Amino acid sequence: MILCRTVSELREALGGIPREERGFVPTMGALHRGHLSLVEAALARGDQAVVSIFVNPLQFGPNEDLDRYPRTEKEDLALLREAGVALVFLPSVEEMFPQGARSFVEVEGLSEELEGALRPGHFRGVATVCARLFHLFEPARGYFGWKDMQQVCLLKKMVSDLAFPLEIVPCPVVREEDGLALSSRNRFLDAEQRVAAVSLSQGLRRACFAFAQGERRRAVLETLVRDALSPSLRCQYVAVRRSEDFSDPGERVDGGRILAAALLGGVHLIDNMPLEEAPGAGIDAS
Ligand code: PAJ
Repeated sequence: MILCRTVSELREALGGIPREERGFVPTMGALHRGHLSLVEAALARGDQAVVSIFVNPLQFGPNEDLDRYPRTEKEDLALLREAGVALVFLPSVEEMFPQGARSFVEVEGLSEELEGALRPGHFRGVATVCARLFHLFEPARGYFGWKDMQQVCLLKKMVSDLAFPLEIVPCPVVREEDGLALSSRNRFLDAEQRVAAVSLSQGLRRACFAFAQGERRRAVLETLVRDALSPSLRCQYVAVRRSEDFSDPGERVDGGRILAAALLGGVHLIDNMPLEEAPGAGIDAS
């Protein structure tokens, strides 16, 4: 596995990996099985997996957890090596944004609602760093988790609007055995909070079962999620959005995904599941 810390090292190393074979997995490190599933998806598609680890300051607000975002470089590299990754790019902030950043990518509309309303500037930071990474890596495909549904839809729109020559490949949400979606932030939950956290995925699953049994009223589906949350979770939003473009389906739901966010202690939890007619609902088809 090749390790690059500078843009010039990256350019040189990418010379040995044909563009058509580059399957790019951008991350902020603190890697878990969710991240590794993206690497596996790239390898399963026949790509060489190329990964970035960069805690992107542009996507953190002034009151967010940039400083306490977990950094576990040694463990991350061991996991990526074991997973069969070809190349890892681990730039410093100065390397990524040498003169600071004055040019930004803004995906209007999609940037401002739900997660974007809670975290002003977040999606501008995500779109901007991904645009830069896409230019540096020139991958054929970029692998992203449905876990961050709004991010997936936003990047698809950016790629289409700005004619980036790559395909965004969304991948299933990876969960703990009890249903909690894996997240780098789960490590901040204490034992009691960890137990309460599962109520988020339980609520979403209830809504998915109701949909599978014929319930189409959006308000009813959303209420099922809210009502399932443990008292210690403060609900931030519950919504239904179409998977293709994040559009709002209106009062009657025809599919898409149901998504929710809640605060537990200081930890921001998000999750979503596909609304499908077949039972076994809530589990992403891979
Ligand atoms: P990060 O939170 O590290 O996530 C990197 C990728 O892993 C994202 O595509 C995310 O959706 C995916 N992922 C995280 N948890 C997952 C899970 N439980 N199941 C499946 N996939 C999961 O998302 C970011 O970093 C950043 O915004 C980034 C795109 C790297 C830009 O800075």
